[in-house]
Amino acid sequence: MSKILIIGNVLKDVYLRLDDRNEALETDNSGTKWLNLGFNGSSHPYFAQTSVTSGAATTREVLENFHLETDLYVAPSSTAIYRFIISAGNQITYFTPAEKHPTLLLTDHLYKNYDWLFLDRSAVLDYEFVKRLLSHLEARKTLRLAFYAPRDLPLCAKPLIKKASILFIDDLSFNYNTKALICQISESSITVREKTIHFRKLEKTDFYTHLTVYSVAAASILGGLLNHKSVEDTLLMTKLNLENMNLNSTLPLEKLETLAHEEKENRVNLRLMAKELIAAPKGILAADESGGSIHKKFETLSIPDDYDHRRDYRNLFFTTDGLEKYVNGVILFDETARQLSDDGRDFVKFLTGKGIIPGIKVDKGLAKLPGSEEKYTLGLSGLDERLEEYFKLGLRFAKWRAAFEITGSTPTKTAIKKNTCILAEYAKKCQSAHIVPIVEPEVVYDGDFPIETCAGVTGIILRELFSALESEGVDLGATILKVNMVLAGKKYQAQSTPAEVGDWTAKTLKHFVPKSLAGVVFLSGGQTPEQATENLSEVLKHGPFPWPVTFSFARALQGPALEAWKGDNKNYPEAKAAFLERLKANCAALNP
Ligand code: 13P
Repeated sequence: MSKILIIGNVLKDVYLRLDDRNEALETDNSGTKWLNLGFNGSSHPYFAQTSVTSGAATTREVLENFHLETDLYVAPSSTAIYRFIISAGNQITYFTPAEKHPTLLLTDHLYKNYDWLFLDRSAVLDYEFVKRLLSHLEARKTLRLAFYAPRDLPLCAKPLIKKASILFIDDLSFNYNTKALICQISESSITVREKTIHFRKLEKTDFYTHLTVYSVAAASILGGLLNHKSVEDTLLMTKLNLENMNLNSTLPLEKLETLAHEEKENRVNLRLMAKELIAAPKGILAADESGGSIHKKFETLSIPDDYDHRRDYRNLFFTTDGLEKYVNGVILFDETARQLSDDGRDFVKFLTGKGIIPGIKVDKGLAKLPGSEEKYTLGLSGLDERLEEYFKLGLRFAKWRAAFEITGSTPTKTAIKKNTCILAEYAKKCQSAHIVPIVEPEVVYDGDFPIETCAGVTGIILRELFSALESEGVDLGATILKVNMVLAGKKYQAQSTPAEVGDWTAKTLKHFVPKSLAGVVFLSGGQTPEQATENLSEVLKHGPFPWPVTFSFARALQGPALEAWKGDNKNYPEAKAAFLERLKANCAALNP
């Protein structure tokens, strides 16, 4: 196994959480509150949370966890530099001392037989140090250098770039001449040899300093490669280390190998599931109207809104003969997922038995943003537990809807940011729970705006959404987008023609939806059933698309059947015929 000398500095990090500790603040004559940090370190209560694993010490811990033999010169504690990391609410502030220790390379070190030098990001690259290091590298040709080049690389350190075998950088514009393997590390992604992995961006509330994150990333990459892992596996293990470490420790190699294996299997399975859900020439039935929506629909037709009528209504669709020929999946509402079909099985098992994949709406509806008329989607709290239960019930995909209304002043950047971040967090949680997420940002049709405005707003939302999904580390290959067609608002004087809808929708999606996504499905959004089908057909004429495209309508599939049923099961035959007609028409539209 390789023997590595780590060169860098060790900082003494002191983590102070102030959330509930206001009583520890002292107030001066002017009323300003002060926290006595107790620099002697002896008596202050917060020193209980001191950690020393920062800078080069972090690198060492990671490499040892990869079973590599390391040496690190640790400066005596009397000269340690303290760095204070203070958290209050959602805010974290770092107090980094301006003073820096020169980095040491001891004579002792120079006579040992190391295979690698790891020059950590915490090293101070002054002239004397670099000169000593270069002569050392010159004298021992077999010694290899892994170098974390700081963004503001001093001139004297430039020759190290040429000498490096592995180079870690975080600057996109880096363009020095080097033969080194370049690993580019950002706060949410790592790229090595054109392979990129995204990891969950470590929030400030996670307490980590940038130094910790970047050191763990670089050391994990070296650790993986020196353990003869492929670049792909190394990247995956690095991501897992970053996402699962805590302030006291990073993960041992064996644990990373197990997690990587599980994650790869989960990813393969989820991608397959997403592929099945979106496979041509079928769509997805959205039968997931919440209690409130069902109530409104039933009320207009004077249908009693009770448990049995709601069950009979869903049952009507699920027992329509040949449903499985037209849909790959059905989205259920929580109540429906627990209701029983005529043969006594629950609807989840009933649909699975027909070869249809059952899914579930998991958002909890919309709420107003504070001080605004705009909405955001509720449901993140307790979501992990609900997803776990849904998976056990047999549900294999989920849906989450965010709604955006176009008015003179909306949607605002705030509402777009908030909702797209929530969608990304939901999607990540789904994938961790082995469930394929459908992310549904809907620009609401009911408004007074031209088609160009709808295209612009849809585009901005999609751009934000995919950037949020990327930051969250969501696997797009196992994610489906459910989206509105691009069209003028329902109240706008000039309604869009199907040709215009096809053109604008295809253009917008091709521009903003990444090629790696599993697929795109459309909602009908209040268009008439015929209008939705015709528009779908026009969109598909603009293919081929980089991803499969199909329908996932609720109203445009179920509306005519609901009107025929009228709450009376004697009308099932007419209602089923009306439903079948819409299913057939929409599947035909998929083949323009
Ligand atoms: P509509 O097709 O009725 O718009 O419903 C689709 C959906 O699932 C909305 O969340």
